[in-house]
Amino acid sequence: NLDGPRVNNVNVQVDLKWRFPRHQIFIEQVLGEGEFGKVLKAKAFKISGRPGYSAVAVKTLKEDSRKQDYNDLFSEYQLLKEVNHPHVIQLLGVCTPEDGPLYIILEYCVYGSLRNYLRKSRRILSTTELAQLDDHISNRVKPRDILSFARQIASGMSYLSDIKLVHRDLAARNILLADNKVCKISDFGLTRDIYEDSAYFKKSKGRVPVKWMAPESLADHLYTTKSDVWSFGILIWELITLGSSPYPGIAVHNLYNLLKQGYRMERPPNCSTVLYALMNKCWNLDSNARPTFLELYHCFDNLLTDNI
Ligand code: ADE
Repeated sequence: NLDGPRVNNVNVQVDLKWRFPRHQIFIEQVLGEGEFGKVLKAKAFKISGRPGYSAVAVKTLKEDSRKQDYNDLFSEYQLLKEVNHPHVIQLLGVCTPEDGPLYIILEYCVYGSLRNYLRKSRRILSTTELAQLDDHISNRVKPRDILSFARQIASGMSYLSDIKLVHRDLAARNILLADNKVCKISDFGLTRDIYEDSAYFKKSKGRVPVKWMAPESLADHLYTTKSDVWSFGILIWELITLGSSPYPGIAVHNLYNLLKQGYRMERPPNCSTVLYALMNKCWNLDSNARPTFLELYHCFDNLLTDNI
């Protein structure tokens, strides 16, 4: 069931079941722009078995993109069509490049990235802003929300590790927040668009999210589910600090040596000793000593039940 026309000498092999007619997509606005690609907000008519119009996000390339960018976006599609989990971003369809730009159509996540959501939650809103909120009681993120986000992300990561998919860039900026505050892991796999973001350290080979990386990834480019667990530890720290940038005041070029010497971020003021111990387990130099995502899931599940 593969379709394989050649466009610009690239073999376009799209599973027929994912192909979506371009004339049923209506682009509305730009959600974000990166170095190579952009994400658009759109409406799609009768997509993926949904009646009427659905809000969707469309990933596509910028006009001046190169062939490598095309290949990267296409391999993201190839990864996305293999995944199916409530806490991993859902592919809805693809518009193939015979009749226009390559569009990867994803479910729309109304609250955007978790990092932005956490940072916005720190602000005291004006009454008009408060009135515009759907749950207009408060925009405050409560301790329970933090535990719930962590449990959802651990659940999605446990699934990805089961299907042997290594994320390589697990961070709050790459978690999207959908309706009912459901977390969706996104931008995973070898191919991620690295947006203009100070979190990525510029290197000749591309940009590297040094402060989320396990020591073995920094030293040997070794990426495994266990290095994803290290990044998850940093992500817990981001959740607790409502989207702060990790290792404040530490230069990326010093980080590797500091970590090897045993240096770790200190306990944030509002962080329980239990949670601090948990993130430190994720930051074990010995990757095999780090917890699994399933164990982490159960830890947060227990914390949520104890906390009632
Ligand atoms: N930004 C990037 N991807 C998105 C999505 N699927 N929904 C909302 N905002 C996004």
